[in-house]
Amino acid sequence: MAEAKWMIYGAYGYTGTLIAEEAVRRGHRPVLAGRSAEKLRPLAERLDLNWIAVSLDDADALREAVATVNLVMHAAGPYVHTAAPMLRACLDGITSYLDITGEIPVFGEVYSLDQAAWEREIALIPGVGFDVVPTDCLAKYVADQVPNPVTLELAIDALSKTSPGTTKTLLESLPEGGLVRRDGRLRPYSLGQGGRWFSFPHGRRYAMPIPWGDLATAYRSTGIPNITTYLAFSPGAARLARLAAPLLGGLLRIGAIRRLAGRIVKRTVKGPDEATRQQARSYIWAQAANAEGQEAQAWLETVEAYRFTALAAVRAVERVLAERPRGAFTPAQAFGADFVLDIEGTKRYDTLPALQRTP
Ligand SMILES: NC(=O)c1ccc[n+]([C@@H]2O[C@H](COP(=O)([O-])OP(=O)(O)OC[C@H]3O[C@@H](n4cnc5c(N)ncnc54)[C@H](OP(=O)(O)O)[C@@H]3O)[C@@H](O)[C@H]2O)c1
Repeated sequence: MAEAKWMIYGAYGYTGTLIAEEAVRRGHRPVLAGRSAEKLRPLAERLDLNWIAVSLDDADALREAVATVNLVMHAAGPYVHTAAPMLRACLDGITSYLDITGEIPVFGEVYSLDQAAWEREIALIPGVGFDVVPTDCLAKYVADQVPNPVTLELAIDALSKTSPGTTKTLLESLPEGGLVRRDGRLRPYSLGQGGRWFSFPHGRRYAMPIPWGDLATAYRSTGIPNITTYLAFSPGAARLARLAAPLLGGLLRIGAIRRLAGRIVKRTVKGPDEATRQQARSYIWAQAANAEGQEAQAWLETVEAYRFTALAAVRAVERVLAERPRGAFTPAQAFGADFVLDIEGTKRYDTLPALQRTP
């Protein structure tokens, strides 16, 4: 199936372009798609790929375009606005669907289509980027070492600089505030609260609970009912978040302000440059524990988050085209906990590397 046809939708966005470039580097020839012919043409000419301009709002044209390929790699977000029409087109066209969302409601939306995907013999796999491949794989790795785990904690040190789409997605989700999972249910959690220090392979970092996609995906991959996901910030930034989040969240609930902020982001946020993508590293820690006090922890060290997203997305496409899973899956369910080790530059540690151990 290596020559199977697939499409990247949102191909001219910051991350869509990285995925298209990585696909070509690995010898693929995906069709590039998006809503603007003007933005698609130069990218398709540079990469020497076919392209098609089609709007997500034109259900008939989208269905027709999607039905010509075996798989869509959906790279256009925020997904709360873009996932539904593409999922509909993929189900109608008998076309597998992958995306790079990290948005908790979107994971639920996709998983609710499990049966429909199984009947059509297609795969629906949201979150095949940095959010959530490394955390999902590490969560499964530690959960599998503990009988009946009840608690999972994940901490991430990455994302020194965000892309336009990630920033817009953060603006969309800020009014919802923080979340954790307790007793199997998502519970509100005040942003900026609950920060603490974590040991990573590169030193100690302060991190605070944020609503990372694993609150949905790790629950599905491991069944663990209590999950907290932390992101590293300076203690000062965490204090600022505690003070400013309620005010900012309130302002962003006003549609006109959110749209204005989105336009400013589009003009000013560029995402990490090539040098940063090549040099920066990302770190993850996971710990699973059971009611008897047994626990397992592990760490991952990997490449910069947007570079990781491009590498993981293309590897996920290759696995789906080769293995043809049917149903709706998390990355770790579809490809196993070791999938993350296929991503170049990734190492997993069961203990902190001795030389970099911190007191
Ligand atoms: N999982 C991860 O780790 C990860 C990593 C990177 C990005 N992401 C997510 O991926 C998405 C894209 O991020 P990015 O930084 O690449 O964003 P970006 O540079 O702003 O690009 C967004 C792309 O989506 C398209 N788009 C947005 N809304 C659309 C709509 N309603 N209909 C059709 N096309 C639409 C844009 O087209 P126009 O220019 O025509 O608007 C553009 O091609 C975001 O949701 C981001 O959060 C996730």
